[in-house]
Amino acid sequence: MDTNNTSSLTGFGAGKVILLGEHSVVYGYPALAGPLSRGVTARGEPSNKCQLVIPDALMPEQRKVLKAAFARAMAACGEPGVKVSFDTDLPLSMGLGSSGALSVACSRVLLQAAGRKASASEVAAVAWEMEQEFHGTPSGVDHTTSAMEQLILYRRKPGAEQGRAKVVESPKPVKLVVVMAGARSPTKQTVGALRERQKRWTERYQRIFREIGLLASEGAEAVEEGDLEALGDVMNVNHGLLAALGLSSPGLDDMVHRLRNMGALGAKLTGAGGDGGAVIGLFQDTGPVVHELTRLGIRCFDSQLAGPRAEGTRGAA
Ligand code: MEV
Repeated sequence: MDTNNTSSLTGFGAGKVILLGEHSVVYGYPALAGPLSRGVTARGEPSNKCQLVIPDALMPEQRKVLKAAFARAMAACGEPGVKVSFDTDLPLSMGLGSSGALSVACSRVLLQAAGRKASASEVAAVAWEMEQEFHGTPSGVDHTTSAMEQLILYRRKPGAEQGRAKVVESPKPVKLVVVMAGARSPTKQTVGALRERQKRWTERYQRIFREIGLLASEGAEAVEEGDLEALGDVMNVNHGLLAALGLSSPGLDDMVHRLRNMGALGAKLTGAGGDGGAVIGLFQDTGPVVHELTRLGIRCFDSQLAGPRAEGTRGAA
């Protein structure tokens, strides 16, 4: 075991926001997703064995899954001598990619400790091991967005071992308000329940997945053209289709409508959705919206996903 590379290791994994295409991406259609500047930071210190410090607050089932996920990443890196701990400033279990971010942060530290290159693709390959343990049959969009830290159009064709990501450049800032709209069930459960529905009514569900995939591609074009109004419209339509798939809730719908009434160019649920989770609104100017929602006691933050940034900023929140 190599303990020479571990004196001061840190690795960051960005949280993510899916702008368009959650769920249908699991069935091989494209999704448009970008990184948050919030995420998970992992730290490594020398140790005689490779291990993860599991936070006391976790429930026994969560500890078990985390341990199994880390064991896969550790094996993929040849079990370097490092003790990994982590902390996060990302709202957890809200559909903002906390497990993908954790997978990327740990993978970065493990790869460095093993003396290996921690390029985006190396990191994504190790993080993929962890994500499969967390989610069973993930599309891979979460950890890929986290590892690449750019707005991407992601697609993993059915049966393909790996997904492919195309970076989507934006001539304009793409700014979101991200609002927490209630607790939600685990992603695995929501994805599993949808899988059962689509098995029963395959054609109808596939038609909707296909349409959502088209929206994701149209959204990517709108971003590249700097047409934020078109992007907002695509987001609105995508929310309607997610609701049609049974993935929204009164709380999520209320928040979507509230953001639209506050001037959002588009608003939708993001991530797995279901009975709660996060809602995103696309705004030209996010500051006043965050101010107003915060004044009302609503948990939210803003983030710039792509495009030119004001000088001196690393992206909001
Ligand atoms: C979860 O962040 C996104 C889903 O599309 C699941 C996946 O892509 O694996 C719901």
